[in-house]
Amino acid sequence: MARPRVHVTRRVPAAVRGELDRLFELTIHDEERPAPRAELLAAVGGAEGVLSMLTDRVDVELLDAAGPQLRVVANYAVGLDNVDLEECERRGIAVGNTPDVLSEATAELTIGLLLALVRRIAEGDRFLRAGGEWAWAPTFMLGTGLAGKTLLVIGPGRIGGAVARLAEAHGMRVLVAGRGDRLPLGEADVVSIHCPLTEETRHLIDAAALRTMKPTAVLVNTARGPIVDESALADALEEGRLAGAALDVYEREPEVEPRLLRRDDVVLAPHLASATEEARVAMGMLCVDALRRVLL
Ligand code: DGY
Repeated sequence: MARPRVHVTRRVPAAVRGELDRLFELTIHDEERPAPRAELLAAVGGAEGVLSMLTDRVDVELLDAAGPQLRVVANYAVGLDNVDLEECERRGIAVGNTPDVLSEATAELTIGLLLALVRRIAEGDRFLRAGGEWAWAPTFMLGTGLAGKTLLVIGPGRIGGAVARLAEAHGMRVLVAGRGDRLPLGEADVVSIHCPLTEETRHLIDAAALRTMKPTAVLVNTARGPIVDESALADALEEGRLAGAALDVYEREPEVEPRLLRRDDVVLAPHLASATEEARVAMGMLCVDALRRVLL
């Protein structure tokens, strides 16, 4: 019997590729950079399954390009903001994502970025590599600690829960805010974002929200870039209304607001939250399962 045809929009870990090759008739864009949109639209034509990435817009245009035989989209991410879920439902196309398996990895990176920021680890690394002169001194390159500080987790899901647990292990007091809750931004020394990107959460952290934060507080975003108004964030930092930011995601990814790139009180990572061997293989295997459940 002919195996169902699946298009994979990016290179995947070898173990995941092995399973996909074993089960499906595969076409794959086997590169770390996305294919140009026109190439992607041509490649999905005739596929019964698509394994998409968070950077692929799975919208009416793509679903039309794929054709009426498309039965399942497996998105290599927990976030589904790149997928038009209503349109998929209307067409009877199943949608899979990758919850749970990346929660610990994302929580680890969140705390890692936070420590890199408040203990000035990234800045210290840049300082030494630039050949900066130094000597140990009681006042040299002081940061702030986490113990005894208040963390506000925005988004009470699995990732937010994992971050709360790691933060408590560092002696932090944790507040959690969910959908529709008042955000006690003024109480927090650290605000960390872990909610999905929706029309409701786009620019949740805007100029007005930033004005309610303490000038000594820092913002961490490992969720989705557009939840933060990046230009308002740069303004707040430049005007001394916020002490720093640690970001893994960007409003116009992969672009980063140039004003943030110049600042030592900002730590930046290139969307690495789930980037561990373990998490990325597990995410891929969840995608394989989603495709298999519908197509085999
Ligand atoms: C996700 O799964 O949504 C993450 O952003 C991937 O790193």
